[in-house]
Amino acid sequence: MTINNQFGPKGWTPEHLGSLSGKTYVITGANTGAGFQAARILLAKGAKVVMLNRNPNKSNAAIAELKQEFGKNSAVSFVQMDLAELASVRKAAAEVLAKVPKIDALICNGAIAQIAKQTFTVDGFESQLGVNHYGHFLLCGLLFDRIEASTGRIVVVSSEGHKMGIRTMQFDDMNWDKNYHPNKVYSQSKLAQMMFAYELQNKIKAANKNVNVYVCHPGASNTSLIRESASLVTRMSWSFMVKIGLAQTAEKGAYPEVMCATEDNLKEQAYYGPTGMMNFGGPVGESTLESFVLDKAVLTKLWALSEQETSLQWSW
Ligand SMILES: NC(=O)c1ccc[n+]([C@@H]2O[C@H](COP(=O)([O-])OP(=O)(O)OC[C@H]3O[C@@H](n4cnc5c(N)ncnc54)[C@H](OP(=O)(O)O)[C@@H]3O)[C@@H](O)[C@H]2O)c1
Repeated sequence: MTINNQFGPKGWTPEHLGSLSGKTYVITGANTGAGFQAARILLAKGAKVVMLNRNPNKSNAAIAELKQEFGKNSAVSFVQMDLAELASVRKAAAEVLAKVPKIDALICNGAIAQIAKQTFTVDGFESQLGVNHYGHFLLCGLLFDRIEASTGRIVVVSSEGHKMGIRTMQFDDMNWDKNYHPNKVYSQSKLAQMMFAYELQNKIKAANKNVNVYVCHPGASNTSLIRESASLVTRMSWSFMVKIGLAQTAEKGAYPEVMCATEDNLKEQAYYGPTGMMNFGGPVGESTLESFVLDKAVLTKLWALSEQETSLQWSW
């Protein structure tokens, strides 16, 4: 359900952006798709963008494309980071802390989806949960103090898919060893990211910290998210959706995350994204946040488990 749009009938668009000169945005998974388009929109307004990408070749190609568009002195760089390996996340975070003095927003955008067969990250997590949730949980924890010192924010990019699974955590089998299902596991991973965000808001409030956390989704956007690792049926259904025009451009898919990274007067315990038919596309604004996402018992348990699995104790 759409909630009355605070940005008017057209919803939020980059027309709402002023100059972003002096601002720095760190984006995970920005060599393609919505993350790449978010980098483009931010660079166009004079911001500095640091991409945290796993693939150096694709990153160099993305940077070359952006420099071609915005000039060779445009402030875009990348730090290598594989969200599927906690050691790589730690190394990348250390590099960011050494090289990036100010973080106005960390955009947790990178993800994998609908992986047909159960696979594992280096640390033994089911791959979608490991990449989408645990990798970002650790990254946010390691960069938190820098973000707070910058009066910055954290943006979590989720998915409408968070509603399409079991609507909670399968705590007795987080890797889904007994009943692996590509879509339900993706759903759990995107729900875990949201639950992390809302629990982080609770903790920030309790500890009187100064970081805003916003949650959004890109609708259905024509990116490379559905790859060879998805089943043939999933790939065919997705191609059909794209063909009949149900998926919007990757650029429009980037609007919610750019909005959450830049806009004043957003609500924290909220969920932003396109608000048209089935939330696939349409004006960007606030959508309904369903109550299962805020189940306090699940939030608390997931947080404790995530600290344990990533060996990261948030110090407050
Ligand atoms: N497209 C949609 O319709 C849709 C719908 C709902 C939600 N979303 C969400 O939107 C966000 C952006 O996705 P997208 O559609 O733009 O997909 P995309 O084009 O596939 O982009 C995903 C990005 O994540 C990166 N990534 C994947 N695994 C990684 C890892 N282990 N370490 C670091 N980076 C990694 C990819 O890097 P590589 O190029 O190296 O693989 C890529 O840059 C995701 O959070 C996704 O869940 C998308």
